[in-house]
Amino acid sequence: MLLVLESTCDETAAALIDERLNVRGSSVATQDELHQVFGGVVPEIASRAHVERILPVIDQCLKRAGATLADVSAVAVANTPGLAGSLLVGISAAKALCVALDVPLVAVNHIHAHVYACRVAAGVDVFPCVGYVVSGGHTTLFYCESPLKFHVLGGTLDDAAGEAFDKTASLLGLPYPGGPHIEKAAAGGDPRVYRFPRTFLNEDRIEFSFSGLKTAVRYAIAPQGTELVAPPAGSKLLADLAASFQQAVIDVLIGKAEQALRATGYKTLCVGGGVAANGAFRKQLEARMTKLGVTLHIAPRELCTDNAVMGAIAWERLRAGLVESLELDAVPGLVR
Ligand code: KG4
Ligand code: ZN
Repeated sequence: MLLVLESTCDETAAALIDERLNVRGSSVATQDELHQVFGGVVPEIASRAHVERILPVIDQCLKRAGATLADVSAVAVANTPGLAGSLLVGISAAKALCVALDVPLVAVNHIHAHVYACRVAAGVDVFPCVGYVVSGGHTTLFYCESPLKFHVLGGTLDDAAGEAFDKTASLLGLPYPGGPHIEKAAAGGDPRVYRFPRTFLNEDRIEFSFSGLKTAVRYAIAPQGTELVAPPAGSKLLADLAASFQQAVIDVLIGKAEQALRATGYKTLCVGGGVAANGAFRKQLEARMTKLGVTLHIAPRELCTDNAVMGAIAWERLRAGLVESLELDAVPGLVR
């Protein structure tokens, strides 16, 4: 069985997955409470927390699977992209296990894995497809010929969609990570109250920009030259701002998915990443894709935010003989 480790950002995770992609065990330790006071992930704190958590997380995963290390026939680890210090913790643990157990090491591209979460959940082949990652670090569209052949169609020029949620939440006085809190606040609001920008939506280009949207929310809360005071918790003002912001992001995300489907001619869309956990986004995307006759796979919520199950993509590499030497390094850089 394949043991997958994930430590790219601020979740420490492990999963044990068999050859038929059945998840035998999975464990995720979040660090949200450590970063909340800073309003975002602090890399140094994240890597130290990974060091503390990686072994207990592996133990818990094996326990849940009713397995031991003797059942592990290969170890996979996400080595790109992510925070350098965080990546190194998972990579070091994976290498140590490979040496101790004398099993092969497999590399996982974390962004490709977010798309592959759909394949694991579907239980059937989903390729070729348009792959869409909407996370805290990425907003990227791919055309995916196969699980091993991902080609970037386009991505964000500045903030990722999740980053926009997090930064806007901070302006609205909501805790980190902002996505779930904005979703909750937006549920009671009217998305038509503020007409926030939908950058590039009506342009024929697969690119995103969310920094202007964040600034527009900033000035809707407090006009230029006035002090920024977050709207009161539970107020209609907060709900309307959250709903209008959320709708602007959703409109852009759906519009760009449509453009990517048109450009590739593909009829299957696979969506993953933390923002894909958003209920309003899921509902509206489903309605739109049904109308277009597109087969939609959205990762189940627990596989949207970071986890090791999606690293099952490593089985594809293993089967193709793509194993790594112990020289495998962290590659922090963004996948645009
Ligand atoms: O995929 P993920 O766990 O980590 C990265 O690889 O970046 O995504 C985390 C991001 C955060 O920005 C968080 O605010 C956002 O996903 N997120 C959401 C929701 N749940 C998490 N955004 C909108 N609505 C949600 N319900
Ligand atoms: Zn992620």
